Amino acid sequence: MPEHRTTEQDFDFHGPALDTVFDTYRDLREQCPVGRSDRHGGFWFLTRAEDISTVEHDPQTFSVAPSMLLPPFGTDVPLIPVDIDPPDHAGYRKILLPLFTPKAVERLDEDMRRSARHLATEVAAQEVADVSHEFARPMSTMVFSRLAGFPEKDWPLFDRWIDDIVYERSADPQRARAAGREVMDYFDALLGSRGEDPGGDDLIHRLSIAEIDGRKLTHDELLSFCYLLFLAGLDTTAWAIRSSLWFLAQHPKAQARLREHPDEIPAAAEEFLRTLSPVQAMARTCVQDTEVAGQKIKAGDRVVLVFGAGNRDPKAYGNPDDIVLDRRDNRHLAFGVGLHRCAASNLGRRELVVALQEFLAVVPDFSRTDPTDPWHGLGPLTLRIGR
Ligand code: HEM
Repeated sequence: MPEHRTTEQDFDFHGPALDTVFDTYRDLREQCPVGRSDRHGGFWFLTRAEDISTVEHDPQTFSVAPSMLLPPFGTDVPLIPVDIDPPDHAGYRKILLPLFTPKAVERLDEDMRRSARHLATEVAAQEVADVSHEFARPMSTMVFSRLAGFPEKDWPLFDRWIDDIVYERSADPQRARAAGREVMDYFDALLGSRGEDPGGDDLIHRLSIAEIDGRKLTHDELLSFCYLLFLAGLDTTAWAIRSSLWFLAQHPKAQARLREHPDEIPAAAEEFLRTLSPVQAMARTCVQDTEVAGQKIKAGDRVVLVFGAGNRDPKAYGNPDDIVLDRRDNRHLAFGVGLHRCAASNLGRRELVVALQEFLAVVPDFSRTDPTDPWHGLGPLTLRIGR
C-alpha cells in the first residue's frame, strides 16, 4: 500500500498560473506523489523525477497509444512519432534525428539571430510591449516555418490554431477538434500543392523523399508528421522564450548579469528549461497491471508524467526551486527521457539561447507592467521597456 494520499480529484496540468503552480507541485510531490485525478476520464499523475524516469524507460508497460497527449491534440489520428510504440517508432525517429543534429541546427544560427534581432529592435522602440506576441511567438514561427517550408503568407493563421489545439483543448474540446480539422486540411492542401518531389531543402521535402525499409511515407503518414511537427516545433520554443522573459522581467539582477555576460546564457537557458518546463506534462497508457512507487496501476489506466513537478524534485536537484543561472550538471526532464525524448532538443535549446542573447543585447531593462497579475504562460506578456 502507498504511504501517501492518492487522490487529488481536480488536479489538472493545463494552463496553470506560473506564479503558484510550483507550490502545488511541491505539495503533491510530498503528499501525493502518485495521485489520481478525475479529469479527462481519470488519470494517475507522477510528480517525482525518479518515477517519471522509470515510466519513460519502460515502453513495454507504458504505451504512447492511443496518444501521448491528454486530451488528444485536436484529432484522433495517431501522431507520428509521439503516438507510435516500438517497433514502428524506430523507423520514423531515424528519419527525424539527422534533421536536428547540432550541425544541422548550427546552419540555422544566422537566420535565428537575424529574426531575433529584428523583432527585439521593434520591442526596444516601445515603452510597453507584449513580448509574447511581438517577440517569442513570431520568432518561433519565423525560424521553424522557414526550416519546415510553411509558406510565409500562411503564418498569420498559425497562432489561433495553436491556441485552440494546445491551450483550449482541455476547456473546449470541440473548438480544438475544429481547429485540428483546419490544420489537417491545410497540410493536406499544402502537400497536394507540392506534388511528388517538391525540391528544395526544407523539412517537408526531406520527409517526402525519406524511406523506411525501402518504402516512402504514405500521404497519411506525411500528414500526421506535418501536423505533429507544426504543433511541437512552433509552440514549445515560443513558450520557452516567453516564460524565460517572464522570469527575467521579475529578476533585474539576473537580467543585468546575463546582459553583461551573454556567454552565461546557455547555462541559464538550461535552468529556465528545468524550472519552467515548456512542456508541463505528457501521458502514457499502462498496458499490463503494474506498480509505481507502491501504487497499483491497472492495464488501461492513463498515467501523466508531470515534467514541471519532476524538474523541481529535491531528490534530483539541490535547491530545486532556485533558478541558479550557472547550475552545473543540469540533467533536467524538460525534453523527456528515453525512447520519445524530444527529437529536436538541439533546435529548441539553441533557439532559446539565441532569442535571449539578442533580446538582452537590444532591449534595455524591462519589467512586468503588473507584477501581481497571475500569468499562465499564454496570452499577452506585457512588459515595460526601459526604466
Ligand atoms: C524548448 C523547446 C522544446 C521542448 C521543451 C520540448 C519538449 C518535448 C517533450 C517533453 C517531448 C516528449 C518526450 C517524452 O514524452 O518522453 C518532446 C517530444 C518531441 N519533440 Fe520536442 N520540445 C521542444 C522543441 C521541439 C521542436 C522545436 C521540435 C521540432 C519539430 C520538437 C519536436 C519533437 C518531436 C518530433 C517529439 C517526439 C519524439 C518521439 O516521439 O520520438 N520539439 N518534446
